[in-house]
Amino acid sequence: MKVLAIGASNSRNSINQTLVKYAASLVKGAEVNVVDLNEFEMPIFSEDREKELGSPQQAQQFFKLIGNSDLIVISFAEHNGSYTAAYKNVFDWTSRIDMKVFQGKAVIMLATSPGPGGAKSVLTTAENSAPHFGAEVLGTISLASFYDNFDFESGKVVNNEFNKKLTDVIETLN
Ligand SMILES: Cc1cc2nc3c(=O)[nH]c(=O)nc-3n(C[C@H](O)[C@H](O)[C@H](O)COP(=O)(O)O)c2cc1C
Repeated sequence: MKVLAIGASNSRNSINQTLVKYAASLVKGAEVNVVDLNEFEMPIFSEDREKELGSPQQAQQFFKLIGNSDLIVISFAEHNGSYTAAYKNVFDWTSRIDMKVFQGKAVIMLATSPGPGGAKSVLTTAENSAPHFGAEVLGTISLASFYDNFDFESGKVVNNEFNKKLTDVIETLN
């Protein structure tokens, strides 16, 4: 199974990137490809720029990566209650290739933040809009207070409730 792991943040020490790598590592027999959004930086989307530039190669590459995967595991960082600008920009450009950005793929949606909110606001936005963008959502799970619940030494989440929800969702793949 080809798994695409996306931390929806361009932070070099992204906790969402860390979380998504952990989650993808739990999928048995998976070939995991981790996306670094910094490799998909493009001008801020505008319809005028689109007329000038067409569809940037990075957007096409991002669309292809999704198309070549069996499962997408994505973890959303929350900036001011919503997507990070970095993710939203990649998403906007990619949606111009095909509004069904997720191309009917199975998607596990996660989100985490250092605070008690666990980036639930952005996760809810992503979940609610998923059908419009062709995502077959298997489950959505937020992890609050990341630094209290992640052990960097072992590279694992140490919150039983989160781990149970995640393994239950992953088991639906079998
Ligand atoms: C501009 C900005 C806005 C933020 N807004 C929120 C927010 O609305 N909710 C939240 O839980 N955390 C918020 N945070 C804190 C982020 O959750 C925190 O920086 C987290 O590490 C981002 O995830 P990442 O490490 O994967 O990039 C914000 C951080 C920044 C820099």
